[in-house]
Amino acid sequence: MPPRIILDCDPGHDDAIAMLLAHGNPDIELLAVTTVAGNQTLEKVTRNALAIAHIAGITDVPVAAGSARPFIRTLRTAADIHGESGLDGPSLPDSALELDERHAVDLIIDTVMKHDAGTVTLVPTGPLTNIALAVRKEPRIADRVREVVLMGGGYHAGNQTAAAEFNVFVDPEAAHIVFNETWPLTMVGLDLTHQALATDDVTNRITALGTGPARFVNELLGFYAGAHQHAQEANFPPVHDPCAVARVIAPSVMTTRRAPLDVELSGSLTLGMTVADFRIPPPVDCTTSVAVDLDTERFWDLVIDAIGRIGEGGL
Ligand code: BDR
Ligand code: CA
Repeated sequence: MPPRIILDCDPGHDDAIAMLLAHGNPDIELLAVTTVAGNQTLEKVTRNALAIAHIAGITDVPVAAGSARPFIRTLRTAADIHGESGLDGPSLPDSALELDERHAVDLIIDTVMKHDAGTVTLVPTGPLTNIALAVRKEPRIADRVREVVLMGGGYHAGNQTAAAEFNVFVDPEAAHIVFNETWPLTMVGLDLTHQALATDDVTNRITALGTGPARFVNELLGFYAGAHQHAQEANFPPVHDPCAVARVIAPSVMTTRRAPLDVELSGSLTLGMTVADFRIPPPVDCTTSVAVDLDTERFWDLVIDAIGRIGEGGL
């Protein structure tokens, strides 16, 4: 049985590619897509999720809207990287798909509780508000999920501040809850995702697919690359979120290291920093790991193969 995931996301250019990877790869089952305010407002990222589902032909997977703001802080969005829509670049279709009526938190809980224990992996690629609320509302999910594999944090440097990565910084209190739960957790952070660069070779291979969804991805990457060039003087942009999905599909696509993790909530310079304790040996009861090295070629093979398998999707 392929691993099953719930993708909790804030699309977002790289979230969109994470959705396509989860849908197009045959070795993973996408059970639900839930949205959270982050890269843009909840309304915008939810509209984007439905548009992506339409383009990819994801018709049998529930999509539910979740939290509109972090636990206690004012929402910060990332319009500098993702634009005013949260998905600037391609023109987006009006999706024919309808939202699930449940709140994302309830969809997450229902989905985890109705599947066998140890079979559902949570893959958050946005701020952790929904995931934290879900485990507070239904603590039994902590023992039932197989693992949390999240894109967020990092052990070396931040991107939102010197110390903090965007997803963790937007809702550090939620991240603190999620990182301190008892479930196994793998942090696919910036140290790893900055190895997943959309180079010219990558975009050329996507162009060669010649399909509507492939054009959509390259239009996304065109805007995303320009935004990174402008904001961070980066030649090629890091495509963060599909790295977490790839880890679930093919764990050996990256190396990881077991280490206790925590989230800084009180530092005046380090709010939202994820701290990995690399002292050796890790405690025997340590259930958290950080991603270290990516097999870049295999990662892009997975992503490009998945886009290819989607064919013309729902276009
Ligand atoms: C993370 O922040 C968002 O802008 C991206 O979608 C990704 O999830 C990278 O820091
Ligand atoms: Ca994201």
